[in-house]
Amino acid sequence: MATPLQHTPVLLDEALAALSVRPDGTYVDCTFGRGGHSQALLERLGPEGRLIALDRDLAAVAAGKDIIDERFAIVHASFADLRAVLAAIGIGEVEGVLLDLGMSSAQIEDPERGFSFRRAGPLDMRMDSSKGETAAEWLANASEREIAEVIRRYGEERFAKSVAAAIVAARTREPIASTQQLAAIVAAAVRTREAGQDPATRTFQALRIHVNQELAQLSLVLPQAVEVLRSRGRLAVISFHSLEDRIVKQFMRDESQRDRMPLGLPIRQRDLPQARLRLVGKPVRPTLQEVEANPRARSAVLRVAERT
Ligand SMILES: C[S@@+](CC[C@H](N)C(=O)[O-])C[C@H]1O[C@@H](n2cnc3c(N)ncnc32)[C@H](O)[C@@H]1O
Repeated sequence: MATPLQHTPVLLDEALAALSVRPDGTYVDCTFGRGGHSQALLERLGPEGRLIALDRDLAAVAAGKDIIDERFAIVHASFADLRAVLAAIGIGEVEGVLLDLGMSSAQIEDPERGFSFRRAGPLDMRMDSSKGETAAEWLANASEREIAEVIRRYGEERFAKSVAAAIVAARTREPIASTQQLAAIVAAAVRTREAGQDPATRTFQALRIHVNQELAQLSLVLPQAVEVLRSRGRLAVISFHSLEDRIVKQFMRDESQRDRMPLGLPIRQRDLPQARLRLVGKPVRPTLQEVEANPRARSAVLRVAERT
């Protein structure tokens, strides 16, 4: 089992195979975490290869600074700024872009980050703790309707309305400042129990996605990844829940089909807009052995596409 504040990379061999790494290529790991994928990528690169890593988490960036390798650089940035980050360091095109979405175990395990209902800590949940509103701040100010909508949409929680009402009632008594307080409020409001799942799971997931604007960030990075990819460059995305995967799947499908034209338009075949991506293989899921060794891999799915 991974030790606290470490992270076991998910679908490691599969993601590396998907990137079809060229030893002299330039690659971007948009989600460095604790560098599991980055380290493996570096091992496959020759002296001319380059790897740029991004993470919006300061602790991840600090871990990346420990890698002393002139082929490697890490930048504290959101992947939503991918194109600008690459331009700022003089890189136009790359051979591969990797996104391994969600949180690292290091983030979940650190009580101070407030991501886990299993660990007592401040209700923070920001991946980038240098800016933005914490989950506690958002819960203190949002309307009951907004809270219910976030929990329903991002947590797919049937009892979103009851949870939001319980949160609003509780915050009139005292601020909801800790993970344990929120977990207790949710447990009392969610009337049924799902086997093997804490009643707070869905609400915590929803708040985390909202606080970090995770789906919006994903929608922003995907077109930029396509733009920075060289012809035949690869985009590999590992997602962990259906909301993310739907965005990735839809994006890759749209980009791999020519823009649909109304039938009968007098346009020659060669003048039709060309698809920018070609799908590579089927979605890849972890093996049973991987899930047994690392339960966090359970819901992972890897999708791959190539720039035309
Ligand atoms: C699942 S972990 C990556 C683990 C990594 N592949 C490894 O093997 O160690 C996801 C990482 O992505 C980072 N992250 C999530 N959203 C981000 C964003 N919009 N921009 C930059 N980094 C982000 C998180 O801070 C976290 O460190």
